[in-house]
Amino acid sequence: MRQQTAVSPEAMARQREYMARVREMEDRPRSYHIVSMGCQMNARDSETIAGMLEEMGLTREAVRERADLILYNTCCVRENAENKALGNVIWLKELKRDKPELMICVGGCMTQEPGMAAAMKAKYPFIDLIYGTHNLYRLPEYVYRFLMERAPVVEVLDIDGEVVEGLPERRESVHSAFVNIMYGCDNFCSYCIVPYVRGRERSREPEDVIAEVKRLMDAGTQEITLLGQNVNSYRGGGAEFANLLRRLDRLGVPRIRFMTSHPKDLSDELIACYGELEHLMPNLHLPVQAGNDEILRQMNRRYTRERYLDLVRRLRAVRPEIGLTSDIIVGFPGETEAQFEDTLSLAREVRFDAAYTFVYSPRRGTRAASMPDPVSAGEKSRWIQRLIALQQEISFETLSAQVGRVERVLVEGASARDAGSVGGRTPRNHMVNFPGGEELVGKFVDVEITSAGKNTLRGRIV
Ligand code: SAH
Ligand code: SF4
Ligand code: F3S
Repeated sequence: MRQQTAVSPEAMARQREYMARVREMEDRPRSYHIVSMGCQMNARDSETIAGMLEEMGLTREAVRERADLILYNTCCVRENAENKALGNVIWLKELKRDKPELMICVGGCMTQEPGMAAAMKAKYPFIDLIYGTHNLYRLPEYVYRFLMERAPVVEVLDIDGEVVEGLPERRESVHSAFVNIMYGCDNFCSYCIVPYVRGRERSREPEDVIAEVKRLMDAGTQEITLLGQNVNSYRGGGAEFANLLRRLDRLGVPRIRFMTSHPKDLSDELIACYGELEHLMPNLHLPVQAGNDEILRQMNRRYTRERYLDLVRRLRAVRPEIGLTSDIIVGFPGETEAQFEDTLSLAREVRFDAAYTFVYSPRRGTRAASMPDPVSAGEKSRWIQRLIALQQEISFETLSAQVGRVERVLVEGASARDAGSVGGRTPRNHMVNFPGGEELVGKFVDVEITSAGKNTLRGRIV
């Protein structure tokens, strides 16, 4: 991993100056609405974008159609993510016809794809601002430039990206917070576009991470989720991830989680942390992607099925109640039915608490996109249905095994389904709904689990 490059204090001061200038403009947008697509990285970026827009004097508007500025923070990890973003953009054209002063901004991973920004500019001239992943921190400058010139601003930088500290933010939740520890990815799994759109791996300094967590704790944060495409390659200040975790655990933040971990470099030290650290929660997202060695090799994952199963055994030896979740791709180019069945048998053997399953989607520029792919879409769809059915059975059995237990739950908010109920998560990250009022949000309560559903639990406070 390279040394990180930080954005200079002067460059940051310039952006603060642009925020102040926009705030003073008479004809600036008054409200904003952000549509955040894709993963937690994007969700966290959207909090930064919201913070910058609020510094510029805009207020949040919950109804998209009513906002003066609409920003799409896009994802392109699979084709359907991209189609969703583009579909939305086309819809905006109609909206802008009725509301010409509407400012439309599109940024994130999709616009960072080679050639995409230019293609979008030509095809969708009603977009006012297109930026990428590496220049997010310059949003104030671009908004200012657009407002001054009233002409589309299109700027996507072809650099690897830097580490930016000290941006404003508006967090979605104070109780449970995302904390970036690194950016980018160097793994180049053969199917994946993320390394191309998020740039090379770079870590934040541990002191910056610790200072952020301390600030969050002062504001009442009970749970942090550390974010990185592969947190196991964190090397901030030369220290490795387990070292950072130990330091954060000593701060006493009640709950620590993180994602994502690449199995190839899950270290012995990190496994040991699961047996030692008081605040590290017993759940781990450890994407396996496939259960067949040849497919794993073609995916460039750099571990075998046996090595993955060995990690699972060792994690469970130090923390028997640990809940594992995974990502799985079905129908990688050339995958045979027998190879797919190795994935089924692995899922049966590991018994994940939950698995996110995807049909392989070719991404332009990746190595897998040029591999022969003879299996039909219909066949792949039958395979993934089999995997989903199996996983649903396992998830339900896992949840059912929680019935009768008393779990400490951090309350997240009102339950989406039942009036008079709230929902929160157990240490193992299972969602539980139970009767209670919103005054409980952000608090810990002990809940007896009374029944299990397909994806969530029900309970009552004890
Ligand atoms: N850095 C994380 C997650 C990256 S994207 C990790 O390595 O686990 C989230 C998930 O999307 C991946 O784990 C993978 O399962 C899936 N994914 C990525 N590219 C894909 C593609 N081209 N087709 C289908 N699924 C894909
Ligand atoms: Fe993509 Fe692999 Fe990097 Fe994850 S580790 S972001 S799947 S290249
Ligand atoms: Fe999507 Fe970008 Fe995340 S491609 S999954 S939003 S890193």
